Amino acid sequence: MKKNPVIATTGSIAIYRICDLVRNLSKKGVYARIIMTKNATRFISPITFATLSNKKVIVDEWDEGMLHIDLKNEASVFTIAPATANIIGKIANGIADDLVSSTYLAMNVPVIIAPAMNPNMYLSKAVQRNLKLLKEDGVIILDPTHGEVICGDIGYGKMIDIETIEKTILEFHYKNEF
Ligand SMILES: Cc1cc2nc3c(=O)[nH]c(=O)nc-3n(C[C@H](O)[C@H](O)[C@H](O)COP(=O)(O)O)c2cc1C
Repeated sequence: MKKNPVIATTGSIAIYRICDLVRNLSKKGVYARIIMTKNATRFISPITFATLSNKKVIVDEWDEGMLHIDLKNEASVFTIAPATANIIGKIANGIADDLVSSTYLAMNVPVIIAPAMNPNMYLSKAVQRNLKLLKEDGVIILDPTHGEVICGDIGYGKMIDIETIEKTILEFHYKNEF
């Protein structure tokens, strides 16, 4: 079975930028599977991602069967973008209490995360500690850039540009699609 990128979106305001990322991938013929945390759906409706990706979007792990295992089998690469402080904390510590965190644990393909958060959150000891753990676990972390975040604060925390995320996804996708 031909595989596709699986992209998990979480509850950060930076999620609106992922719409363009998904559209750009689709235009290249790479149709990503989008999964969302419940909080992500408070920012963007699943129907938006379903339309842009041409694939059903999955939010609720209780929808049908063992979705996290199905997702493992279809993934060429797994990306969490934007990655909230919350999901970073959960996956760094082996917590699997929703579809995104359970899917992370089940994955056996490269994992990319693109953190996005307020600079104080990003520089907090807990988030830095969790990112260090993820790096040691082999997760590819696309560090946020310096700049003004949406709340007006300036510092590190702005999600990296979508072109870099796309390039990194495609690099692994083309290696693992078959
Ligand atoms: C308007 C708004 C914007 C937010 N933006 C971020 C963000 O950029 N990064 C972050 O880590 N949390 C952000 N949060 C907080 C998260 O949504 C919250 O921690 C939530 O529990 C994350 O859930 P999830 O990781 O399951 O999606 C924001 C909350 C609101 C209401």
